[in-house]
Parts: sequence; C-alpha cells; structure tokens
Amino acid sequence: MPRLAGKVTFITGAGMGIGREAATLFASEGARVAVADIDEKAAKDTVGLIERAGGEGVALTGDVAVEADVDRMVADAVRRFGALHVLYNNAGVLWKDRDRSVLETDGPWWDRVMAINLKSVFWVTKYGIPHLQRAGGGSVILMGSVSALVGFTRAQDAYTCAKGALISLTKSLAIQFAKDQVRCNIIHPGIVDTPLQAPYLTDELRREFSTGIPLGRIAKPREIASVALFLASDDSSFMTGAELVVDGGFTAG
Ligand SMILES: NC(=O)c1ccc[n+]([C@@H]2O[C@H](COP(=O)([O-])OP(=O)(O)OC[C@H]3O[C@@H](n4cnc5c(N)ncnc54)[C@H](O)[C@@H]3O)[C@@H](O)[C@H]2O)c1
Repeated sequence: MPRLAGKVTFITGAGMGIGREAATLFASEGARVAVADIDEKAAKDTVGLIERAGGEGVALTGDVAVEADVDRMVADAVRRFGALHVLYNNAGVLWKDRDRSVLETDGPWWDRVMAINLKSVFWVTKYGIPHLQRAGGGSVILMGSVSALVGFTRAQDAYTCAKGALISLTKSLAIQFAKDQVRCNIIHPGIVDTPLQAPYLTDELRREFSTGIPLGRIAKPREIASVALFLASDDSSFMTGAELVVDGGFTAG
C-alpha cells in the first residue's frame, strides 16, 4: 500500500531543491500534489516529472509571502483535488550577501526574509488548516534549520530568527489542533545540496563541511524529503510538536 494513498498534499517551494524532491516522492507514494512556487516554469517542470512517472500534480504559481497568493493557491488546490491533508511549508530563501549579521543587514532585506521564511507559514496555515480540520485530520510540516539551533560566526540573522520562530509556531499549532487530529512537526536540516546553497558551495566550503559534519558530507535533497514523507504519512501518527534534526550529526558534536 503506498504510504500517501488518498492524500492531497500542498508543498510550497516545490519547484526546486528539497521541495521538488518531496513532490515527486510524495506522488510516487500515491499522493496528489499541489506544487506551489513563485517560479511558474519550475512548478510546471516538477508537475511534468510527477506526471511522467504516472502521478498526479497541479502547478500553482504565487509568492508565499503574499496573503492573496496563498489564499488563491490553497483554494485552487482544493478545487482541483477536493480536499487537503498535508501542508508542507518548505519554501525558504537564504541570501547570504544581503542577510548577514544584525550590524550589516538592511531593514528591507530583514523584512523580506522574514516574510518569505516566516510569515508565509502564517498564511499557509491560516488558509490551509481549516481544510485539514474538515478532512478529519492531517499533517503540517515546517522547515527549520540547524541555523535555528546553534550560532554561527558568519551569521544570517534574519534567516536564523525566522527559523527559530518556526519552532515556537510548531509547538503552538501542535497543541491547538491536536483535538482535530492535525499534527504539526518541524524538520531541521543541516546543509543540503540544492540550488539554494549552490551559489555558496565553493570547493573550500565543501572540504570544510566534509570534516565538520560527522557523517563526512552534506545531505542530498532525498535525505530530507524522506523525513518529510515520514511526517506526512501515518507512520508518524503519534508525533506532534516534535523537532527532527537531520544534519549528519553536526549539532550532536
Ligand atoms: N539547502 C539547505 O542547505 C537547507 C538547510 C536547512 C534548511 N533548508 C530549508 O529547506 C527549505 C528548502 O530549501 P532548498 O534548499 O530546497 O531551497 P531551493 O532554493 O533549492 O528551492 C526553494 C524553492 O522555493 C521557491 N521559492 C522561493 N521564494 C518563494 C516565494 N516567495 N514564494 C514561493 N516559492 C518560493 C523557489 O522558487 C524554489 O523553487 C527552505 O525552507 C530552506 O530554508 C535548506
């Protein structure tokens, strides 16, 4: 039996990276997937991958930081598939050149990072959770980061604060909606080989990571998507309010 048979999943930032990997993985496990992304071509390409593998998906274009876009994308997903069971809040940005230490970051960039990485989850859960309640339960997945768990001398303070706030929101949503069988958990990835990291992954940094990460390498997107699959599926049916660290042992040291 496929692990997501009969489930409708809504994944933000599913045009690339971890989100695309999760979209194709969820579809291969029987889910119908709403692929939400600001990049229309990327979203359509992900749906193409899903359909070529025999699955079902719909591409939805919008900015997760914009209330009206999220409202529309959630409504379109429900109109297309009739229900919603999983909200995977995956979209996020890491702008190391503009989001740095508090001493070096300009206000508008702080606000934009916060809007995409934190406020987006407010919009997706505001418009999405009522559908999970209507369906008799579901799973909300948030994307944190090891950046929320430890400090770094080379800081991205807005990114770190947004991810840290998502930990608190995870627990609040878990407690509020447990009565409706709506679970909410957060994944903290370490560094993952995706387009988000591509501009920064120099050979020198890769060497640094291979010694600094106990498992000796950075993660592949599938290694995070498979944890999201676990949280989306009934395999995690007794888990809510939990933080899953997926970092090759980085924060254990
Ligand atoms: N890659 C890593 O090392 C790493 C580590 C820890 C946490 N994360 C988190 O994992 C998540 C996915 O990261 P990734 O590495 O796959 O990123 P990515 O940049 O490879 O892909 C992100 C996707 O989100 C989309 N997106 C960006 N802004 C958007 C917006 N405003 N509205 C809608 N879609 C938008 C992009 O178009 C892209 O398709 C993020 O939340 C990120 O913070 C990543």
